Amino acid sequence: MTRLPDIGSAAAVSDGGAPVLVVPMGADREPGPGAAYVLDRLGSWLGEHLEGVGFSGKPGEVAVVPTAGAIGYRWVVMVGVGDDPDHETVRRAAGAGYRAAPRAGRLVTTLHQLSVPGALAATVEGSLLAGYRYEDYRSKPSDRPVPEVGLAAPVPSDWTETVERCRIVAEAVYAVRDWVNQPPQDQGPADLAAMMSAMATQAGMTVEIWDEKQLTDEGMGGIMSVGRGSHRPPRLVRFIGPGEGPRLTLAGKGITFDSGGLSLKPAKNQELMKVDMAGAAAVAGAGIAISRLGLGVRVEVLAALAENMPGGGASRPGDVFTARNGKTVEVVNTDAEGRLVLADALSLGAEGSPDLLVDVATLTGATAVAVGLRYAGLYGTDDARRMVAEAAKAAGEKVWPLPLPPEYRKLLDSPVADMKNTGGRWGGGITAALLLQEFTADVPWAHLDIPGPAKTKDAKHYLAAGATGFGVRTLVELASRMAAG
Ligand code: BES
Ligand code: MN
Ligand code: ZN
Repeated sequence: MTRLPDIGSAAAVSDGGAPVLVVPMGADREPGPGAAYVLDRLGSWLGEHLEGVGFSGKPGEVAVVPTAGAIGYRWVVMVGVGDDPDHETVRRAAGAGYRAAPRAGRLVTTLHQLSVPGALAATVEGSLLAGYRYEDYRSKPSDRPVPEVGLAAPVPSDWTETVERCRIVAEAVYAVRDWVNQPPQDQGPADLAAMMSAMATQAGMTVEIWDEKQLTDEGMGGIMSVGRGSHRPPRLVRFIGPGEGPRLTLAGKGITFDSGGLSLKPAKNQELMKVDMAGAAAVAGAGIAISRLGLGVRVEVLAALAENMPGGGASRPGDVFTARNGKTVEVVNTDAEGRLVLADALSLGAEGSPDLLVDVATLTGATAVAVGLRYAGLYGTDDARRMVAEAAKAAGEKVWPLPLPPEYRKLLDSPVADMKNTGGRWGGGITAALLLQEFTADVPWAHLDIPGPAKTKDAKHYLAAGATGFGVRTLVELASRMAAG
């Protein structure tokens, strides 16, 4: 794992002392904290320069300005935050400023001084997350430095605790990104189970790994049905955190590679399918962060890991399996495999009657068609869905609710089994979620379908190209809300 940037405190802006200063600018170049000092010292040419390069202070805009020694920094990075920033605007501006900073060992920022609720945590998180890079498979690691960040005085008195909390969350996000970015040839179900477990053990969690024999003995017919086509057998990973309090169970889809199985995906659609374990990675990372933060919840993580391959033992269209809760499913399309591994994981999770059951999965392309690449689709029972939506909003992750109409359930009717595994072309994300609901035993339940936001093609704000770690922040926020009652 790459090292996270160091975050410390710094002197007041006018004292200088770092190569780079990052300051926010509002709409129409309204100076944010520290920016008036810069504008004042650099002179009127700076306003003309910003005008000329089209920097007006909108969120997402960045201008890198050399100071030629006029102030105690070699460069100023101006980041736009618009006229009504919220914490996610600040998180993104911190990330954009961090990534745009010219090569240097250190930068100082004033973003945490914006009068936005949560500005300090957002500044720290955005900076930490922007420091991520994935270089395990480069022949030469990049020599670009990972600058440390100084928070310009004044800082709130409890800043070190905030940094410590943000660091635990960011470490979980880094781990999730590493797991998702790792090439699938080196990360089958057993490999991923071992990597997750090592980190969970360190966080004080109890760890169980079920192998293919135990999965069979325990009636996990869905996971077995998906894993059978691969030489690398499936695993179920179960972590239980050390905390006590309301019970939160998290289940994740962990397909280490999704070829589609015998219902083989076209080549183009296979390109990105190493991300198909992003849901399992997110719930494992979140469970680890929740445990390390000592939140007052009893968290349980169930990561259902399998590789969906078309080997000689693979499930055939027409096969019927029995899931953990006794319900039978006809597999009409082996590419609708995520719901099959989650059927078992949700059944097992529901057996413990948690206060809340949440699953995360790169489940359907249809949800991405509905809500686009930057939103997760959110399904579930009413209260659970509301709680997850509020936590996501507070964490700065984009989710949008979609319906679970009981009248669509008949689209899953099968002539031979309790249900079939696909519901046809229309509302594909919804029928997938309706199938999952069959395995939740009326426990309060929410389902996050994250085909779009699990990864990004291009680097931007606090994201590097590749895995994003989506879901970790929402689940940690959800747990802290449950702990608070
Ligand atoms: N892993 C895919 C869904 C997916 C698509 C994730 C794009 C990320 C990006 C899933 O297993 C799948 O193949 N779903 C099918 C379901 C269909 C066969 C009913 C889909 O969405 O096409
Ligand atoms: Mn699939
Ligand atoms: Zn899949």
